[in-house]
Amino acid sequence: MPEFTVNRRSLLLAGLGAAGAGLLAACSDAPAAPPLVDPSGSPVARAEAARRATGRERPVTVTAAAATVDLGGGTTARTWTYGALPGTAIRTTAGDTLVATLDNRLPVPTTLHWHGLALRNDMDGVPPVTMRPVAPGDRFTYRFVTDRPGTYWFHPHVGVQLDRGLYAPLIVEDPREPLGYDEEWVVVLDDWLDGVTGTPDQAFAELRGGMGGSGGHAGHGGPGPAPAAGGGSSFMLMGATSDLLGGDAGDVRYPHHLVNGRTAADPEVYRSAPGRRVRLRIVNAGGDTAYRLALGGHRLTVTHTDGYPVRHEEVDALLVGMGERYDVLVTLQDGVFPLTALAEGKNAAGRALVRTGAGGGPAVTDRPAELNGRILAATDLRAADEVRLPGRAPDRTHRIELTGGMARYDWALNGRPFDMADPTAHPFLVGDGERVRLEFVNRTAMWHPVHLHGHTFQVGAEGPRKDTVIVLPGRTVVCDFDADNPGRWMTHCHNAYHGEAGMMGLVAYRA
Ligand code: C2O
Ligand code: CU
Repeated sequence: MPEFTVNRRSLLLAGLGAAGAGLLAACSDAPAAPPLVDPSGSPVARAEAARRATGRERPVTVTAAAATVDLGGGTTARTWTYGALPGTAIRTTAGDTLVATLDNRLPVPTTLHWHGLALRNDMDGVPPVTMRPVAPGDRFTYRFVTDRPGTYWFHPHVGVQLDRGLYAPLIVEDPREPLGYDEEWVVVLDDWLDGVTGTPDQAFAELRGGMGGSGGHAGHGGPGPAPAAGGGSSFMLMGATSDLLGGDAGDVRYPHHLVNGRTAADPEVYRSAPGRRVRLRIVNAGGDTAYRLALGGHRLTVTHTDGYPVRHEEVDALLVGMGERYDVLVTLQDGVFPLTALAEGKNAAGRALVRTGAGGGPAVTDRPAELNGRILAATDLRAADEVRLPGRAPDRTHRIELTGGMARYDWALNGRPFDMADPTAHPFLVGDGERVRLEFVNRTAMWHPVHLHGHTFQVGAEGPRKDTVIVLPGRTVVCDFDADNPGRWMTHCHNAYHGEAGMMGLVAYRA
């Protein structure tokens, strides 16, 4: 059975049988829900027609399939990829229509979700909210205008598939690029366990209190490598702490941290020359790890986060939560330098190397001093003038408490785990044209990278425009956005395991 239909409610209904389910519906005393904009309704088509489009089409095929990947240093892993690890970046120029065919050769249903894009709702790739999942052996063609330049990425929106090798960058280029640089490098960070210590489904089952088996909750993982020795806790990580993250840093133990699909022992090498100016487009594709990123011997000029420009800031290191992106400029020195992604609070790191001159290069264990210099968090940034939301009082405020904990693994919003079988049961309603405020209040003992689909909110009054923002334990982050993209949009923790456990909700436009 496809994992997306397996949850408490469908099991309950299965137990009651069809007659029982009908009875349950008939007895329901819930107030009638207001009608919502349909994901492929006319408001969605109108919003798409209003996007600035060149008419130029960009056709691509993305094949999701099982593969054996070489992570370097003698480590190979059996996993699922989009043909490479990371998948080949898709590039469009702003205004292009992306025509992307997903060819699903996986043994399970899947989708593509275009993280960070304000796109038409029925192309958002979220089953069962915006589409049916694409069955094994089937294809689906996504077609939408990419009208905003920036650094984005894509991944499945089914179960914990994101924590396999199913991810790739999506770069929307600006035909009038205001930044000057000589080269551009994409840097994709990822925490890796798939095919090494087990599968993400096994990890999730263990976290949920199963016995780390191959069946358990999601039950589609198929036979994978046996979990590492140690019995019941192969995947669970205890005692990972970070001051930057306000305490508990993560739940999941990863044997590897990858930069562009390579382990620290056998890293990717970027070759260039001293004095060259490089734009780095940094994506955290991890499941449960924030990375502290620094380039030894260099400072970084932050120009964008989550695709949107910010007032430039010079920093030594960046804290990047799952789903977040940063663009930085750097002018290269002469030598060999580590581009180190410290797995925050987990006492491990991934890395790449930057080579512009002679030398053997730093040892794998070398940790650049910049990691402990000025470390940027998103809330230190300000939106660039041209993208700052004009001041306006919110027409509507939703207070969204992040709730739950590690022990019961009951991560939720407002105490209510999201029900994939009944996704419109408790929507956060918005109206077309409204200024909406989301107040994310973290009631848990752990940080969460909170993501909103289809929109780019502003953090606070002057902060950066973002689609994914870290909310530290005990803190509140206020996010404003203009409701200008009708449809049904997920908002959730981008920790793959927290989201799947239920820390998700639906922001839905009234019809
Ligand atoms: Cu990057 Cu709902 O996802
Ligand atoms: Cu979370």
